[in-house]
Amino acid sequence: MEFERTIIITGGAGFIGSHVVRLFVNKYPEYKIINLDKLTYAGNLANLKDVEDKPNYQFVKADICDYESIKEIISTNNVTGIIHLAAESHVDRSIVDPFTFARTNVMGTLSLLQAAREFWEPKGWAGCRFYHISTDEVYGALELTKPEGDPDAKECGGGPFGDDFFTESTKYQPHSPYSAAKASSDHFVRAYHDTYGMPTLVTNCSNNYGPFQFPEKLIPLFINNIRHRRPLPVYGKGENVRDWLYVVDHARAIDLIFHEGKIGETYNIGGFNEWKNIDLIKVLIKTTDRLLGRPEGSDDDLITFVTDRKGHDMRYAIDSTKLKEELGWEPSLQFEEGIEKTVKWYLENQDWLDNVTSGDYMKYYEQMYK
Ligand code: NAD
Ligand code: TYD
Repeated sequence: MEFERTIIITGGAGFIGSHVVRLFVNKYPEYKIINLDKLTYAGNLANLKDVEDKPNYQFVKADICDYESIKEIISTNNVTGIIHLAAESHVDRSIVDPFTFARTNVMGTLSLLQAAREFWEPKGWAGCRFYHISTDEVYGALELTKPEGDPDAKECGGGPFGDDFFTESTKYQPHSPYSAAKASSDHFVRAYHDTYGMPTLVTNCSNNYGPFQFPEKLIPLFINNIRHRRPLPVYGKGENVRDWLYVVDHARAIDLIFHEGKIGETYNIGGFNEWKNIDLIKVLIKTTDRLLGRPEGSDDDLITFVTDRKGHDMRYAIDSTKLKEELGWEPSLQFEEGIEKTVKWYLENQDWLDNVTSGDYMKYYEQMYK
């Protein structure tokens, strides 16, 4: 079968990557989509069962750090687009094992960039795009200047917990080994644009939630724990603020930016949806209990305050005005609707949760808490 072009999506077996692969495979039958993934503990091909038999989908098991293999895959498939999501992504793991984060996120990104350059540069970069998916965490942390929250803040142009936001020109100030490694990879991508003229794009997105997220991250971990009436480990006082976006809206933004974003640019992606952890956790308990038919308040006592994460960033808040004004993107889903869908999905997919938590993940936690 002849395809118009071939695109590699790295990390396509992970949480966000699987939503991007699904969207591209279904929306662009004229593109061949190669899901390139190493299948670490976080990668799971069960996330893509619904598209695995499509003629324009191919899975290739490979490590982005394996430069020779990546070069071979790019050239034999005549790849003209790379959407790069593969990464080690969990802050707590980065605190325990920073080397793995530097290897995958920094050296892996560099290996991909160089492999793409070797194939694309002699062709004058024609029709090529390297799109790097990054995080708002590279900007560091904002302060909590309104700890009680101000429900009317949006009307005054501010956020409920502080008036400042991360914009595309905020200076990089990463604090965790995860965000330091992501920041470094962002710099390499821009360096390839500025030095060699590679057609690159970088986006920095806020916290994602939705189906297929590995249950070490706050939302799926807590839904699963509530269901099984296990303690909910809230770091510190639960006062940290995160800006939450439904994963499908992130995938829609990636599609738009890949096709219409201006080469060499950076776009911030977020839904102006800040939540203090403890308030979000209360919504999760209420929603899960309601969907399980349990009386309201019956699981509130699962909340357990534990030692804070080292270097815990206080507040993230993304200003995505540029993306809205230049490309017309807006989130499609209200948070209440997104959370309802998400809790329902995890409750209906206990097999998926049991499957992904049965192996390495448990070993990691045994080691972390031994
Ligand atoms: P994830 O941990 O769920 O998935 C990562 C995927 O990358 C897995 O499938 C894993 O097998 C694969 N992978 C890891 N190392 C690899 C290697 N060396 N070679 C090939 N594949 C490898 O991550 P996610 O939450 O889906 O995040 C995807 C990307 O989006 C990351 O780059 C992350 O920094 C970024 N991001 C995530 C969020 C979020 O809230 N989850 C927010 C903003 C940006
Ligand atoms: P997480 O989902 O790990 O995302 P990130 O650290 O990238 O923002 O955590 C979201 C917030 O929830 C963060 O402030 C840390 C907090 N948290 C807990 O309080 N308990 C937990 O068990 C986890 C995993 C996170």
